[in-house]
Amino acid sequence: MKKTAFIILSVIVLNSFFLQTALAQEKSIAQKVDSVLKLMTLDEKVGQLNQYNDDWTATGPMTIDTNKVRQIQSGKVGALLNCMGTERTRKWQKVAMQSRLKIPLIFGQDVIHGYKTTFPIPLAEACSWDLDAIELSARVSATEASASGINWTFAPMVDIARDPRWGRIMEGAGEDPCLASKIAYARVKGFQGQKLGETNSVMACAKHFAAYGAAIGGRDYNSVDMSEKLLWETYLPPFKAAVDADVATFMDSFNDINGVPSTGNKYLQRDILKGKWEFGGFVVSDWGSIGEMINHGTVKNGYEAAYSAITAGCDMDMESRSYTNNLAQLIKDGKVPVALVDDAVKRILTKKFELGLFDDPFRFCDPEREQRELNNPDHPVAARDVARKSIVLLKNQNHLLPLSKNTRTIAFIGPLVKAVNQNKGFWDVDVPGIDSSYVVSQWDGLQHKISNKVKLLYAKGCSIDGDNKDGFTEAVNVAKQADVVILSIGERRDMTGEAKSRSNINIPGVQEDLLKALLATGKPIVVLINAGRPLVFNYTADNAPAILYTWWLGSEAGNAIADVLFGDYNPSAKLPVTFPLSVGQIPIYYAHFNTGRPALNDNNRFYTSSYNDLSIYPKFEFGYGLSYTTFQYSNLQMSKKKMYSNDQIKVSVTITNTGKYDGEEIVQLYLHDVVGSVARPVEELKDFRKVKLAAGQSETIKFIIDLEKLSFYNQQLQWVAEPGKFDLLIGASSRDIRLKDSFELVE
Ligand code: GLC
Repeated sequence: MKKTAFIILSVIVLNSFFLQTALAQEKSIAQKVDSVLKLMTLDEKVGQLNQYNDDWTATGPMTIDTNKVRQIQSGKVGALLNCMGTERTRKWQKVAMQSRLKIPLIFGQDVIHGYKTTFPIPLAEACSWDLDAIELSARVSATEASASGINWTFAPMVDIARDPRWGRIMEGAGEDPCLASKIAYARVKGFQGQKLGETNSVMACAKHFAAYGAAIGGRDYNSVDMSEKLLWETYLPPFKAAVDADVATFMDSFNDINGVPSTGNKYLQRDILKGKWEFGGFVVSDWGSIGEMINHGTVKNGYEAAYSAITAGCDMDMESRSYTNNLAQLIKDGKVPVALVDDAVKRILTKKFELGLFDDPFRFCDPEREQRELNNPDHPVAARDVARKSIVLLKNQNHLLPLSKNTRTIAFIGPLVKAVNQNKGFWDVDVPGIDSSYVVSQWDGLQHKISNKVKLLYAKGCSIDGDNKDGFTEAVNVAKQADVVILSIGERRDMTGEAKSRSNINIPGVQEDLLKALLATGKPIVVLINAGRPLVFNYTADNAPAILYTWWLGSEAGNAIADVLFGDYNPSAKLPVTFPLSVGQIPIYYAHFNTGRPALNDNNRFYTSSYNDLSIYPKFEFGYGLSYTTFQYSNLQMSKKKMYSNDQIKVSVTITNTGKYDGEEIVQLYLHDVVGSVARPVEELKDFRKVKLAAGQSETIKFIIDLEKLSFYNQQLQWVAEPGKFDLLIGASSRDIRLKDSFELVE
């Protein structure tokens, strides 16, 4: 017995010596990876392709493991998720260091819009069109998460979404590939920082690959039926932008595309991502999505599921156990060449080296840095700034807003006024053992803003859902005592997010009835709408004098809302997604084809592509958002009207702040390719500028039109620009076109 133990111990010591020696020599990461790979057994290789959930919170159907410690000790786990904090990650990393080769774990977490400091939900942030602010949000989130043991975030979610019934529309950047691509790029740069290996950087993860947002009926996890042309021209660009930003990882999507589950889709993962786009990182499945191919009906069992996923290019198995249970056997059976597994292992080990985890497996586990960064006073300041920039002013009749700070009595009414955690939206992070309760409620935000000369009254009025109107009387009485009423209504935060699709996207319950009762008092009313998706609220939109769409704004929600209400910040946000008139209008988006019988207005719609019982227009269009000031667009100049393919056209336009408030305007440049070999959208966003102007100030902004902006996928899926006429549209929204011109692309 003693002899055996001595031999085992010697082997472990020798292996460790060889590994350390191999790594110690000055080698490239690729050489180091090869050195480690050579020492690995098949079981250890398969182990690296396996990600387990920690035992805390689950973000999918849980599999309870009783022997996780032993599996990690024997090198059968490569990563954990939902394991947070320096203490707990250190504990698991110590277990990994007991394994034969001491290959460190990576720790993944859904740091979607903040860690301890919560930022606005991503769809709200997208309303800012402010790429610096969006990058800052991701940067702060990464700084906090990386100080707390996390080195991999499952973000940014870059799925284009055009159906507000889909709960995960809250998680992305809306309907447009141009805007969403720029935002994807900014978010990856924010999360990954200067470069991987910095202790304040985390690996980003472009998800969900691909077309998850096109689920039929807006029903989460549902099938996607899509032409390759639509996939390439609308749903893939933000993923390509993430690759261009050097994103470290990708995550597969749950859905099938035309019957092929993404996790088993070779065309997506090997041909496009790892082939054409030369992606060098690794792909993780979504939670259990390998095993779920059995439900899809494209494989019979776990053995076939593992085969389908590894051959299609899925490198790591999140939580399904398919790889752990089947991959070694597939290799022994000669079904899967070990080279495929080696490629996946190398991709994962490469990232672990890049993160510096082989040098120091505990470099993300410094409790002092954790305390410092999670309490960094600059972070709430950043959160407040990003939140203010995410609030959309939808209506402001008779300049009711901004409110005067000398208003004598304000009635703040509604079920969300004093809500705290609701403001964090979905995908917030509750860091165990860390006080994540810091949220400035809307009520507190107003308290912070107004002096004690102002009387602030409160009434809840009603609940978010349900039909109980008992609180109306009190609310009306409170309103009658006030000079102005602020009504905060909307969804519950758990009404959007994963597995939160809704067939009815009206403001729930009797909240609009409450508005009606308050309007009857004749008092001026400002409505705040809190939601994670575009809602339908025609009564409010038509009858409330002022409306702010406040989404879910995170830790600094109350302060940001107060800043906008009282004019300390002039709202500048614009919608990244169309707001439908009714759920029956869905899908409705601005970049649509003209069709053979276009409906050009609501008057003569007979024999046109329209609904007989509904206007052709959405409630609020893509790119829409107001300001407390006004902007004039003038002096559109083009350097030429004929462009050759190796050419460019310089465009300039003058924007003047013609109001009395300083403010920011998001100037949008759309193109319409009038005639193409295939129908082209009536307009497409091709660029934008966010310009800050003092009252009365003018600025000339410049754009460049190049061949890339004129190109599209033709019927043969070739990326081409075709000669012909193009309309140039400069707008304050996709519908509020202020200046027009045209030019021609010549052979
Ligand atoms: C979830 C989500 C995915 C998330 C993962 C881990 O099911 O689809 O976006 O990153 O599981 O929580």
